[in-house]
Amino acid sequence: MFDVDKIRSDFPMFQNNDFIYFDNGATTFKPRQVIDEILKYYEFNTTNVHRGDYDISFKVSKAYDDTRNVVGKFINCESDEVVFTSGTTHSLNQAANYLKQILNEGDIVLTTLIEHASNILPLFEACKLKKATIKYIDVDSEGYISFDSLKSLMSEKVKAVSISHVSNVLGCIQPIKEISKIVHSYNSILIVDGAQSTPHIKIDVKDLDVDMFSFSAHKMCGPNGIGVLYAKKSILEKMEPIFYGGGSNARFSKCCDIVLKDYPEKFESGTPNIEGVLALSKAIQYLENLGMENIHKREVELKEYFIKKLKELDNIEIYNPNTKSSIVSFNVKNVFAQDAASYLGNKNICVRSGNHCAKLLFEIIGVNESIRASLYFYNTFDEIDRFVNIVKEISIDSVIDIFF
Ligand code: ALA
Repeated sequence: MFDVDKIRSDFPMFQNNDFIYFDNGATTFKPRQVIDEILKYYEFNTTNVHRGDYDISFKVSKAYDDTRNVVGKFINCESDEVVFTSGTTHSLNQAANYLKQILNEGDIVLTTLIEHASNILPLFEACKLKKATIKYIDVDSEGYISFDSLKSLMSEKVKAVSISHVSNVLGCIQPIKEISKIVHSYNSILIVDGAQSTPHIKIDVKDLDVDMFSFSAHKMCGPNGIGVLYAKKSILEKMEPIFYGGGSNARFSKCCDIVLKDYPEKFESGTPNIEGVLALSKAIQYLENLGMENIHKREVELKEYFIKKLKELDNIEIYNPNTKSSIVSFNVKNVFAQDAASYLGNKNICVRSGNHCAKLLFEIIGVNESIRASLYFYNTFDEIDRFVNIVKEISIDSVIDIFF
């Protein structure tokens, strides 16, 4: 079913390089179809959108607007519930901007210690501004939320719960639908960072019943600098934009009155990332042709094999052996994570090391830094074998031999 050689032939990065790329949590490779769409815009269709009274601008504007339908079908929402942003960080900052509107002194926002900075730092800022309090829902050693903890923290003071769907370090897939039921039973809202879930599993925002959901194109075979914020219409109506400028207003007067356009346009001031939006459409088409269920199934198979092989080594500590996703976080005993990652880099293997922007996570896994191997559907069992054979060599002595 999964012809990985054929799939890899779609990705120029595999033709132009000879390395093992296990850093897909940071960013993914782009298939030819996505790259061609960007080139086509620059070579044949460079115009602005919604501003030109000529055919080429009409054509590009239509393709831009049509992408909202493509995204809407992909995550099961209506096209006007899709706000284009520069990526998950922008989306989550926009979501926190809404918190600045609704929070009052003494209110509470719940999150967890495993969050990426892009989720948690905007929450900190919103809470500081409104004199609200952040509280942390307990998670287990692989990052799964404790329902007992969530239930004990919920109250009418909790105005929002903001969590990642899939942790960028532990790869745990949170049961969002069940969490949402609890959150909504207190009339609170659920904000979800979907940066590490949307590329890998089927997303249905209506079924999950999330109030806001964010993701980035570049982690799902699309280009950099484009992402999405989904929000329920009841929020989009009330939410104020972060940015003001052209394209988002209906009119303004010299008395400083501004009448904004309706959503989603009111959130998209300035010339948008047009080629990014067009190429996002191609990335979604590419993933849908493979099938999100097939992608997830393959990644789980790759991870289970990866864990089995790593467990054969006696110099490894794995932090997330059981999570059902494509992320493996581990350390080589007695070797700093960055030294081990540099050793791997020296052998043409790409991984990420450090705290992975989740700087409170050490309270859960007990170490500040780890090596993260994050796979995507185009990785292979053979790459895992080669990877594990090199990891086997890593020790304090082998690292000193190479670098010191
Ligand atoms: N957020 C990306 C990561 O986790 C960059 O690596």
